[in-house]
Amino acid sequence: MRSLRVLTLVAVLLSTVLLGGVPDAAARPAKPAHTISYDHYSFSIDGKRVYLWSGEFHYWRLPSPQLWRDVLQKMKAGGFNAVSIYFDWAFHSPKQGVYDFTGIRDVDRLLDIAQDVGIYVIARPGPYINAETDSGGLPGWLTTQAGKARTSAPDYLAAAKEWFRHIDPILARHQLTDGRGTVILDQIENEYSNGALDPAYMQALEDQARADGITVPLFHNDVWPAGNWKPGTPGGVDVYAFDGYPQGFDCSNPQVWQPAPDYRWTRGISPGTPISIAEFQGGSFDPWGGPGYDQCRQLTGPDFESVFYTNNIASGATFQNFYMTFGGTSWGWLPDPGAVYSSYDYGAAITESRQLTSKYDEQKRIGYFTQSVTPLAKTDYGPDLVASNPVVQVKSNVNPDTGTRFLLVQHRDTTATTTDSTTVALDAAYPTVPQQGSLTLRGRDAKLLVAGYDFGSQHLVYSTSEIMTQGTIGGTDTALLYGDGTGETVLHFATQPHVSVLSGSVSSTWDPSKGDLRLDYVHNGLARVRIEGGKAPLELLIADTATSAGFWRQDTGAGPVLERGPYLVRDAKVLGPVLALTGDTKAATQLEVWAPPSVKFLLWNGRLVPATRTAEGTLVARLAGPQPVTLPALTTWQHQYETPEANPAFDDSSWVAADHLTTNNPAKPPAGQPVLYADDYGYHYGDVWYRGRFQATGGETTVTLSATTGTAGQFSAWLNGVYLGTSGPGTKQFPIPAGALKAGNVLSVLVENMGHNEDWNANDSHKEPRGLTAATVGADPIAWKIQGALGGENGADPVRGPLNNGGLYGERNGWSLPGFNDASWPATTLPSTEPTPGVSWYRTTFALHLPAGQDNSIGLRIDDNAARNYRAEIFVNGWNLGRYVNNVGPQHVFVLPNGILRTDGQNTIAIASWGADDTGGLGAVSLVNLG
Ligand code: GAL
Repeated sequence: MRSLRVLTLVAVLLSTVLLGGVPDAAARPAKPAHTISYDHYSFSIDGKRVYLWSGEFHYWRLPSPQLWRDVLQKMKAGGFNAVSIYFDWAFHSPKQGVYDFTGIRDVDRLLDIAQDVGIYVIARPGPYINAETDSGGLPGWLTTQAGKARTSAPDYLAAAKEWFRHIDPILARHQLTDGRGTVILDQIENEYSNGALDPAYMQALEDQARADGITVPLFHNDVWPAGNWKPGTPGGVDVYAFDGYPQGFDCSNPQVWQPAPDYRWTRGISPGTPISIAEFQGGSFDPWGGPGYDQCRQLTGPDFESVFYTNNIASGATFQNFYMTFGGTSWGWLPDPGAVYSSYDYGAAITESRQLTSKYDEQKRIGYFTQSVTPLAKTDYGPDLVASNPVVQVKSNVNPDTGTRFLLVQHRDTTATTTDSTTVALDAAYPTVPQQGSLTLRGRDAKLLVAGYDFGSQHLVYSTSEIMTQGTIGGTDTALLYGDGTGETVLHFATQPHVSVLSGSVSSTWDPSKGDLRLDYVHNGLARVRIEGGKAPLELLIADTATSAGFWRQDTGAGPVLERGPYLVRDAKVLGPVLALTGDTKAATQLEVWAPPSVKFLLWNGRLVPATRTAEGTLVARLAGPQPVTLPALTTWQHQYETPEANPAFDDSSWVAADHLTTNNPAKPPAGQPVLYADDYGYHYGDVWYRGRFQATGGETTVTLSATTGTAGQFSAWLNGVYLGTSGPGTKQFPIPAGALKAGNVLSVLVENMGHNEDWNANDSHKEPRGLTAATVGADPIAWKIQGALGGENGADPVRGPLNNGGLYGERNGWSLPGFNDASWPATTLPSTEPTPGVSWYRTTFALHLPAGQDNSIGLRIDDNAARNYRAEIFVNGWNLGRYVNNVGPQHVFVLPNGILRTDGQNTIAIASWGADDTGGLGAVSLVNLG
């Protein structure tokens, strides 16, 4: 009893030490600096070769810093040793010369978390990033520059350097090379591979990065292996890299594949640097009206990962980054209009609601392999092996120092869906492998097998199971193998060892002439075999593929540990007899732990859990599942129509006159008309109002308006308060209704800005105007005024930032904010119809009291008949967390990040609905538990 109490106390103390925070980079004393080097095989850190297995994550798509740690821990736990991060210039800079790195923009905090989690950072600060975000990351204020973007045009280059001068010093103080962080690489530009390329521009960016204190290697991601900016060329970087998206970005036919590219030839492009795939397909974006992310996750599912990612390994790539690993949300006005809606789930391994998928499992299996089977980081191409079945091909890679061979057994046609069996001629000693039965590729599948591998004190001759991970745990060499169907593993020993099958069904055969022990089995659940008689005991864990997903591995100060059971094990630390684990459960579950025998006690999330030792020597404990969650129904709403701008009597005296006669924009307005582009008046994001006054002659019959909005955008027009109609982008002639025309007239137009195009081709396509571009009513001159988001570039809300709000009346008057008093508004219930075209608002509040210490992801769902013609912006506690277009789709569920959503407290939802006819209003709105 007493000892238990003492132990609990120790546990509590330990957990404070183990789980406690770390001081930030500035306060932390510099650790010894590290070196980063590379050759044509791989990168090395402090002289040790490293396989960079990296996932892409964008902090700006997760506006809640507390959740950054969650995602990075999930990545690290899943076998990623690196995270690749874009830094979005527009997200930090509302106005030239103005930069914000606080709150959700706190990059220092992000990089501290990465260091704390123990994951390398591949920094990608642009200046151009693409990324399906507004202008490809170029700030709104840049759209009005005369000089061509992504060139050495003086105005653009000055701005790009200004950004580097702000972001680089933050990156620099977290560099591994200085011992103060984990930043290991820095990317210059992004897929700068199309159009008229400007080496002086690239060189200027590289010089700026160096001047700003960036000391890690610089690289660039070529759009495909075309050799752009390889080292030694004008403007070339240190390390050549390229991108690959073999399935493209249309998820409508998720069963239809394009073949896997063989990148072995690319070693010739840059002979002094490793084959580096800076972005390889980890999912796909999905456009307005698209098929949805479930289909993207299918197109790029675990079968795709198995076939394509191992194929990249066989190509000799030792740096693979998967775009995306967690996609997140293009909240507010972040999306690039052509490519995406609010969700940037991407069909990635980790969902937008932070759930782990079967894609995560497959990446974990391969990722663990790349990290523990270290001869993989240095291989030459070997000859293809002969397979008995001609539809199967077997590529080989060989480590020249250890002789370890990596054999990729794949379909010759990498898109094949057939089940095919083969044997393989391994070498003179083993001309037929497996010796019993055959190797089977079940549909879209590949096997990356290992032969001639020394690990711990063991020598693996070959295995037809794949290796997930291996390590020496408390003196026992432990290897986790996986596969499906029959398997065969051959190990070499000086003398016949003693084999005990602890569980499962495994037969063994000793070949005294070779000194080889052969194990034969069928992968089924988990078999455990203990082999004694070699230099150290060996424990083989042989799992079927599904079972292997339940394993976790960490490296602690006391060596590697393995766990099995929980949904997620984030982290493990050994202190004396205590193993402290942090993690998550989805249901009550058994935890089994492989740890050094000195470990006697288990802490789970800081609490001691009673553990018992099994006959096999592992520790087991029961873990509780989460508490059930009930979410409130959103039953009462306040409703208010706005759109006073349509009324001719509306006071627009504070609005700016839209009267510029010249513009830097490559597109010029029609002769005799003023420049009406919203960007030219400092309104870069969201909806914009125009009010135009003209004197009529009486003969006018139509109002002709032209607007560019970006994909799926719209504009609505009123004449003297009379609704003219709504149109998609382009030119629309509105007939003037009888009686609408007066002598003095007011034309009111609301134009949506779906975001600026990307500039993928480096041809200034992000400068395509937004807003009205021309207007004609007879021959009458029109005097225009314009109003967008409150404050324009000076912003009214620096916390939520420039991409949160546009210029709706309600947004300009605080209706989106939690503090707004809507008590005078009429009450309503949903679904509800608003027959008057224009903008109206729905507001409600609700309290949440989710169980403490439990991570639930909550979403907001809108359901409605797709024939109704309205679109809506969803504000939660003032944050624009999504845009819903009822008649376009496909998104109906919007993830609400905890932190913005108060999981223990009061919340306010405000939804602005813009109806285009008498079917506006809002459908049924509910909260949903996403896991
Ligand atoms: C790449 C680009 C990324 C992203 C991706 C598609 O071409 O570098 O930024 O746009 O395509 O999601």
